[in-house]
Amino acid sequence: MAVKGKIIWVAGPAVKADGMLGAKMYETVYVGEERLIGEIIRLTGDTAFIQVYENTSGLSVGEPVYGTGQPLSVMLGPGIIGSVYDGVQRPLDRIASTIGPFVKRGVQVPPLPLEKRWRFRPLARKGESVGPGDVIGAVQETPLVECKIMVPPDSKGGELVYVAEEGEYTVEDTVAVLSKGGASEEVKLYHRWPVRTPRPFKRRLNPEVPLITGQRVIDTFFPIAKGGTGCIPGAFGTGKTVMLHNLAKWSDAKVIFHVGCGERGNEEAEVLTKFPELTDPYSGRPLMERTTLIANTSNMPVAAREASIYTGVTMAEFYRDMGYDVLLVADSTSRWAEALREISGRLEEMPAEEGYPSYLASRLAEFYERAGRVETFGRPERVGSVTLIGAVSPPGGDFTEPVTTHTMRFIRTFWALDPNLAYSRHYPAINWITSYSGYVETVRVYWESQVSKEWSELRSYVYSILQREDELLEIVRLLGPEALPDEEKLLLDVARMVREGFLQQSAYDEVDAYCDVRKQVKLLKLFAEFHRLAMDALKRGVPLKSIRGMPIIFRLIRAKSEVRNEEAEKLDLMLESMRSDFERLMAEEVVTAR
Ligand SMILES: Nc1ncnc2c1ncn2[C@@H]1O[C@H](COP(=O)(O)OP(=O)(O)O)[C@@H](O)[C@H]1O
Ligand SMILES: [Mg+2]
Repeated sequence: MAVKGKIIWVAGPAVKADGMLGAKMYETVYVGEERLIGEIIRLTGDTAFIQVYENTSGLSVGEPVYGTGQPLSVMLGPGIIGSVYDGVQRPLDRIASTIGPFVKRGVQVPPLPLEKRWRFRPLARKGESVGPGDVIGAVQETPLVECKIMVPPDSKGGELVYVAEEGEYTVEDTVAVLSKGGASEEVKLYHRWPVRTPRPFKRRLNPEVPLITGQRVIDTFFPIAKGGTGCIPGAFGTGKTVMLHNLAKWSDAKVIFHVGCGERGNEEAEVLTKFPELTDPYSGRPLMERTTLIANTSNMPVAAREASIYTGVTMAEFYRDMGYDVLLVADSTSRWAEALREISGRLEEMPAEEGYPSYLASRLAEFYERAGRVETFGRPERVGSVTLIGAVSPPGGDFTEPVTTHTMRFIRTFWALDPNLAYSRHYPAINWITSYSGYVETVRVYWESQVSKEWSELRSYVYSILQREDELLEIVRLLGPEALPDEEKLLLDVARMVREGFLQQSAYDEVDAYCDVRKQVKLLKLFAEFHRLAMDALKRGVPLKSIRGMPIIFRLIRAKSEVRNEEAEKLDLMLESMRSDFERLMAEEVVTAR
């Protein structure tokens, strides 16, 4: 029997109600005469502390609160991909087209279109015995994504006593019936799942397959694995949003979720207008055929923002369970943490660091723990992954603040954005000294077996040039460049070539916006080989000046935007011609020297 209580206190998005005995933690409730959606976030005796997902102005003490007995949950089925949702899965796009641009209070539009008919193709037969996760059919949800219709994770399983024929069905139609010990269970095209409960899987697998992003500084130096976790901290204007959009557009994930908590009011509106215009580079079709947006504009209630990352990750897990690689990017988790702080403040909880509640860290952990590459439940056997990447916008770019420091404990890839790089227009402004990746060793086998045996060796070689440059620049600052021996001067030259010709990658360069893995390794090899040959030439007496005058240097730096991914073998030719340039130089210079 659902509980019915009464409002005793209202403060912004927070409401207290008494008479709530029997209600459960995280239960969804309807608040007030208008039945605004809320969630119980603390229970003390029969008093419930509720966060309300809608504007509470006008709500008053004495109005009723209705329990539902159910936790906050999402509807999982065909129709998710391509949608634009708010933080509690209300379809903003469909609300706008049916009711107008503003979400009215108490409005309930189902997350999935109920009237739409989907073509269901059965993949299991009557008489088969099935359990959680078993695929019983499929629906082509968009031209790019097939939605597998699975026995829900919480099903008891049983014998299939009915499977619908191929045909058109709505999400609420029953497409299968299971029977076990006299009890029967209907399977529809959708099921519900509570957002704060991770969806179960059979077993976690090692994160050994890289998520290829086409961004050199990421793939080559600070890779992230499918099922991995990463964060992009950076001050305002350092390139977080551009990077997340790049990842959404170029990553080799099958399904993308973009959770936006805009920093500026118009930023989310930009996402909503920009994404529908983007093209999926792999298929040439609209990107929205594999993308879902969860938008929190700054005029939306903060509680919905708090819920949005759970809503997003639950939908992501649903597609993971179909056996897909899913990427979820959140921009920015700092705005999410601020929502947490605001609600906690309204509830007069004891604040911890910088006013954030003491449970900030555990909430971040709960979110990032939902990443993973897994073997799913059910037949046929499937492997899927959820990769989670969050932007963090620390005030003043100070990485010692609580959201950044706690996030760092739970993620394995850290792409630190550097305002100095951004000012000098070095994009992506990922600092190669302070960034790190915990996946270099796990993805190494993939790179070496699928791309190039030399990957690891080339990567370390070039990275050590960058590290050495960092040390030398300190000396140069103190003593000037002339204090360095020629080999060190040469090293600084090569480091600059690597920065300009490899690390820098413009999101707006038609050729260079995406760099495939083969091209990445070939470019890396060119820079490594240039350094080796030039060092060798120096040792044999070729003056530094002559090396610096070699025209190949400019060709190397420009290769990233002059050689297309499809014609990467041109880089092999460039390597050959570089070798002969050095041979010629050596012949000339060593003769002159005699
Ligand atoms: N990879 C990139 N390539 C080219 N320009 C970039 C890149 N990243 C960032 N920029 C430039 O920096 C500006 C600010 O980036 P943005 O992502 O909006 O910053 P943030 O989200 O960190 O505030 C962009 O408008 C763009 O001009
Ligand atoms: Mg931004």
